[in-house]
Amino acid sequence: MLVIRLVSGPAGPDALVLPVRPGGPDSPDSPDSLASPDPTVSPASTARLVPTAVPLGDDVPAEAAAVLPATRLTGAVGEVREHLRPGGSPARLWLLGVGEGDERDWRTAGAALARAAKDETQITIALPGEATAALRGLAEGLLLGSYRFRLTEAGKRPALAEVSVLVDDPDALAGTLDAARATAETTRLARDLTNMPSSTKNPEWFAAQVAEAASGRPGLHLRVRGPEELAAEGFGGLLAVGGGSASGPRLVELDWRPDGARTHVVLVGKGITFDTGGISIKPVPAMKLMRKDMAGAAAVIAATLGAAELRLPVRVTTLAPLAENMVSGSAFRPGDVIRHYGGLTSESTNSDAEGRLVLADALAYAVRELKPDLLIDLATLTGANAVALGKRHAALYSENDALAAGLLDAITAAGERAWRMPLADDYVEYLASEIADLHSSPAQGAGSVVAALFLREFTGDLRDRWAHLDMSAPSWSDDTHGELVKGATGWGVRGLLRWLATLG
Ligand code: BES
Ligand code: MN
Ligand code: ZN
Repeated sequence: MLVIRLVSGPAGPDALVLPVRPGGPDSPDSPDSLASPDPTVSPASTARLVPTAVPLGDDVPAEAAAVLPATRLTGAVGEVREHLRPGGSPARLWLLGVGEGDERDWRTAGAALARAAKDETQITIALPGEATAALRGLAEGLLLGSYRFRLTEAGKRPALAEVSVLVDDPDALAGTLDAARATAETTRLARDLTNMPSSTKNPEWFAAQVAEAASGRPGLHLRVRGPEELAAEGFGGLLAVGGGSASGPRLVELDWRPDGARTHVVLVGKGITFDTGGISIKPVPAMKLMRKDMAGAAAVIAATLGAAELRLPVRVTTLAPLAENMVSGSAFRPGDVIRHYGGLTSESTNSDAEGRLVLADALAYAVRELKPDLLIDLATLTGANAVALGKRHAALYSENDALAAGLLDAITAAGERAWRMPLADDYVEYLASEIADLHSSPAQGAGSVVAALFLREFTGDLRDRWAHLDMSAPSWSDDTHGELVKGATGWGVRGLLRWLATLG
């Protein structure tokens, strides 16, 4: 992975990146340029150089200012132009649009730079003064935008190896860089886990990846339950969903337990390593991407590893119920009644509504055995998430306004997106079953809302300290844009880490 270093000078010999923002001498606000009468004359740049914290010597800024008008840059986020300096050091100047220069803009600009500079090996970028937000965004953008998932060496392109970031006080910014690095590294881990094909990624493999990532880290404790322990303790939902697979289910319990923590959060993540739909089998197009159906588990595990890396002073216990939802002679059937952890039963008439069954067990276990202060779950739970909110927003459900607002703020600040949805009581009646305590997949009501209402039944006395994030839509990106790369996004890691950092 790309190495990012903070330096106070001087720039390396290869490429130097200077930020530019909108508003040059010929900015579009000025009446002259609005007229722009002659279509054969290229409009001049409307961008302006951003003053950098460390002086670069006279020749470089003067030269950048001289070439700027011919670049036609506007200063918009992510614009990049290269200017060659034959015989000069640095040999190349890159001008990078950073827009208004807030953290989000810098994150987008950093990702654009990582893509544009893929054939460079080392570059230096000069930041403005007051660089905290710029550095956080830039570093995350560079590390997330340069992410690639390849299982073979062929096709791997030469990668940018090192970025030196020129700032006036490297020591003062070291903590910001560490936070950005931990955030991006754990997001990349969540992407790796989610992108991995399910021929490799079964529940046992996933649990082994967690064990490897957690090993040797003081304060982290891991317990993995296999099918026998799950049966002995009554995890009926996880056993039913995992029963059709040759690879048995697992429950991963990863605990970050720092000394003196006053708040205990339990994170739960849906970990279906492949979702065929089971006996209620999915059609071909709907099944195509179902290796990603463990993106919730990947996000909560990665966020917990990040909390440990950053030594956040909050206790985090993460539960990842892992199962493969397969079609076979031992698969559970539509119409089966499942006995969940703690004893509540549910009638399941659609084996494709499997996520809520494994989550129900984990939530009930958290409430009864772990008794946390706050309970959050992340799940690629319904296709209805994308129907309601499109491809980029998760659906957030909670009865607790302060908890919902805190999560939304953190998610937004971290560069992710979510939208609060109602736990509409009108639909609760649809959860009634004639033969069991609950019906898990009613045909009526809004899909994402009804799924959330089903989960709520398992939150016991944590009902008003619980939040559910249906993140099936933003867990995957159909294209490369901003800091997202086509494929798994690692959605949730960034927002959770920001939110955990606000708890004391
Ligand atoms: N894993 C799917 C949800 C999903 C769909 C995630 C599309 C990502 C993209 C989930 O297990 C599922 O199949 N949900 C059903 C629920 C229905 C059977 C009540 C759905 O959304 O159709
Ligand atoms: Mn399903
Ligand atoms: Zn699923």
